[in-house]
Amino acid sequence: MAAASTQTLLDRVAAQLERMSGVADGGAKRAFLATRLAAELRTRGEAALIALLERAERGDSSADMSLRNMLTVNYSCFWREPEHWPILAEHLRLRFEARAPVRMWSAACARGEEAWTMALVAAEVATELAQLAPGWTILGSDIDTVSLDAARAGRYANEDLGSLPDRLREQLILAGRPNAPRREVPAALRQHVEYKYLDLARADWQPPQEAPFDAIFLSNVLIYFERATQERILKNVAGCLRPDGIVFTSRVEGNLGLATRQLKAAGNCTYITARTARRV
Ligand SMILES: C[S@@+](CC[C@H](N)C(=O)[O-])C[C@H]1O[C@@H](n2cnc3c(N)ncnc32)[C@H](O)[C@@H]1O
Repeated sequence: MAAASTQTLLDRVAAQLERMSGVADGGAKRAFLATRLAAELRTRGEAALIALLERAERGDSSADMSLRNMLTVNYSCFWREPEHWPILAEHLRLRFEARAPVRMWSAACARGEEAWTMALVAAEVATELAQLAPGWTILGSDIDTVSLDAARAGRYANEDLGSLPDRLREQLILAGRPNAPRREVPAALRQHVEYKYLDLARADWQPPQEAPFDAIFLSNVLIYFERATQERILKNVAGCLRPDGIVFTSRVEGNLGLATRQLKAAGNCTYITARTARRV
């Protein structure tokens, strides 16, 4: 395909994302969209991609979703940022000991690996503290509807489990064929976790009704957005945090404390409410 027509296609995709979210390019970095589009042109072919785009442009909402799903990067795994989990466990221990119900949010949950890891950690701490632990819930949200379905299904191949410690791996049900084993999330964890569609970049973004949260995972997602959108998302997400809550991000996101006055770095890619900065 000639470079000019790739550019035209990119402009049309960007315009469609803007129609969906109310934000230029859906808030995404143009270079990121160009890379994803080039990859899809290689795998799907130009004719299929244009057909999908035309359906979306005619107002077909399922084509809108397919276009969105096509442009996301969904890689994740259980226990992805190993330093996060002992910090979450300690945070939950303190909350449970105070007999406070706990609400958590995985704000770009992909196929659920992060939210289910949160659930495994919460269940372990709750079991340790037996009587003390009150209720706990987790919201997992994303814009990719195929990923959300996979998150709800909760079935994972061994390679999805990352470096999940054996004691937690064993809490997942062993299933599948002997030559293709998989692990499934048990009902005891499912009752605590709900998955929803939520676009973090929308111009008319509203906080989830489950807010405020004790812990928010905003991990491996801000890198795809333009700076202005990153700052708006951070501000919105910080507004969903309890005053003593923690935001967990990832090494690739850089220092987010520089991008928001509401949060300050607390080490290991975690952020807490910046009380002093708030007065500025
Ligand atoms: C690389 S995955 C990160 C998954 C997980 N948080 C982790 O750290 O492993 C990025 C996810 O962000 C989601 N995403 C991209 N744009 C989004 C938006 N505007 N709102 C919500 N989620 C979005 C993608 O669909 C994808 O599932």
